[in-house]
Amino acid sequence: MTDDNPEPPAGVEYRDIAGERRLATRGESVYGEPTDGEWRAWNPDRSKLGAMLESGMDTGLEGGETVLYLGAASGTTVSHVADFAGPTYAVEFAPRPTRDLLSVVDSRPRLFPLLKDARKPETYAHVVEADVDVIVQDVATRGQARVALENRRFLAAGGRLLLAIKARSEDVTRDPDAVFEDVLAELEVEREGEREGEREGEREGGYEVLETARLDEYHVDHLGVVARPR
Ligand SMILES: C[S@@+](CC[C@H](N)C(=O)[O-])C[C@H]1O[C@@H](n2cnc3c(N)ncnc32)[C@H](O)[C@@H]1O
Repeated sequence: MTDDNPEPPAGVEYRDIAGERRLATRGESVYGEPTDGEWRAWNPDRSKLGAMLESGMDTGLEGGETVLYLGAASGTTVSHVADFAGPTYAVEFAPRPTRDLLSVVDSRPRLFPLLKDARKPETYAHVVEADVDVIVQDVATRGQARVALENRRFLAAGGRLLLAIKARSEDVTRDPDAVFEDVLAELEVEREGEREGEREGEREGGYEVLETARLDEYHVDHLGVVARPR
């Protein structure tokens, strides 16, 4: 954290917890993180979004937003998000972590877990409200740009994509910077509609990348990206 960092969203604060100044949200403990009884430390080493905030990226988060979270795993990060956001849809395709995610939901009535594949948004389009304010994506899989483009349909015109790109998930052998360049280029591309159900000539707009930052201090070979739909 530096003095120049943007203000954290409402519901996210720096607090003295266990003798340290820690980014924190208010909610029930989930992954053994230290608390002061009310606020829980948000560990940036365990969370790409936490690392993006600690790195001073301008996420545009204000608190209270509707969020679509892709790659929720057992809920480490999405539990913090649900502590300060509005309705939060958490997509995860692996059954085991999703089971753990269910226990996170008990004390978070605005968190909705979905055992779904983020590459198939049509399978949860009937549940997720249109025009979410924010998509957070941390899927650590090949085709990370594709996942962001496929889910762009849910994002409000003025919304934000907060994406963590893991270079090794795209290609373990390539230089991470080259991988990031390719993923960003794909994100920014606009392509004629090719999706099933999309009308001929309908545009699937890409994203405009607003900011990027390497998150290596917390997550090796990861790039944090803030983008908005074109
Ligand atoms: C790095 S972990 C996510 C960690 C989590 N975001 C956190 O900070 O608490 C990546 C997760 O994405 C999930 N994932 C990968 N591909 C996916 C897909 N196509 N649809 C849904 N989840 C996917 C994996 O099962 C894994 O749990």
